[in-house]
Amino acid sequence: FVFDRSDQLATHVAQIIAGEVRQRSALGQRTVIGVATGSTPAGTYRELIRLHSEEGLDLSGVVLFLLGEYVGLPPDSPQSHARWIAQHLTDHVNIAAENIHVPDVSGSTEEVEAACRRHEDALLAVGGLDMVICGIGRNGHLAFNEPFSVRNSRTRLCTLDPVTRRAAASDFFGLEYVPTHAVTMGMATLLEARTILLLAIGEHKANIVRDAFEGPPTDRVPASYLQEHPGASLFLDQPAAGML
Ligand code: GLP
Repeated sequence: FVFDRSDQLATHVAQIIAGEVRQRSALGQRTVIGVATGSTPAGTYRELIRLHSEEGLDLSGVVLFLLGEYVGLPPDSPQSHARWIAQHLTDHVNIAAENIHVPDVSGSTEEVEAACRRHEDALLAVGGLDMVICGIGRNGHLAFNEPFSVRNSRTRLCTLDPVTRRAAASDFFGLEYVPTHAVTMGMATLLEARTILLLAIGEHKANIVRDAFEGPPTDRVPASYLQEHPGASLFLDQPAAGML
C-alpha cells in the first residue's frame, strides 16, 4: 500500500490495529502485538494515542512485546527502546504495565540470555504474536535481525551491523556511544505472527525496499523473508516506494 504522505500511512495503519483490537475485544480475546521503535512507526503510535483519547479506543486488551532492546545501556537510558515505547505510546494509553514486555538486558551475558528466554516464554504463554508492527533497517534488518540472521532464529543476543550502528549514531551523539550488541526477537518468532505490517518511510529506504520485496528471498536481506508470509503487508510512502 503506497501513500502520498506519511501521515496518511500512519492513520491507515493505526486504523488496522484499532480494528483488530476492537474485533478481538468484542470476542473477549486479547491482542498480542510485537512493536518496533524508531522514527517509522512513531506517527502510527501517535494516531493510536489520538484514537484512544479522542475516540475512546480501549487498549486494555492489548499485550505488547518489544521486538528488541540495546544491550548494556544504563537503566532508564533515553536511548533505550523501553523508554522510547513509554514516551511514544504506553504512557499515553490504557495498556497495563504487566502487559508490556521489554527484555531486561542490563546485566551480564548469562542474564541477557535468560532475559531472551523469558521474553520468548512470555510470548508462548500468551499464544504467540497476533500482529507485528515493524520497520526495516537500511541493510534490510527486521527488528535487530541483521543480514545473515537465519530463518529459524529465536529471541537472542546479537552483534549490531555497522550500518545499523551508523544509523543510530545521532541518537547516541556519536558512533562510539552506540551499543555494539542488542537482543532481538528471532526471525522464526516474528514469522509465526499471523499478521505482519511492515512500514517504510522516506527516500533513504527506497533501495532496500526494492531489494527486500522485488529481489529473491535471501538471508542477506532478512526482511525479504516476508515475501513468504501470507499475512504480511507493506505500507510505504511515495519516496520509499520510489524504486519499485
Ligand atoms: C532499528 C530497530 C528496528 C527499526 C529500524 C529502522 O534499529 N531495531 O526495529 O525498524 O532500526 O528504524 P527507523 O524506523 O528509525 O528507520
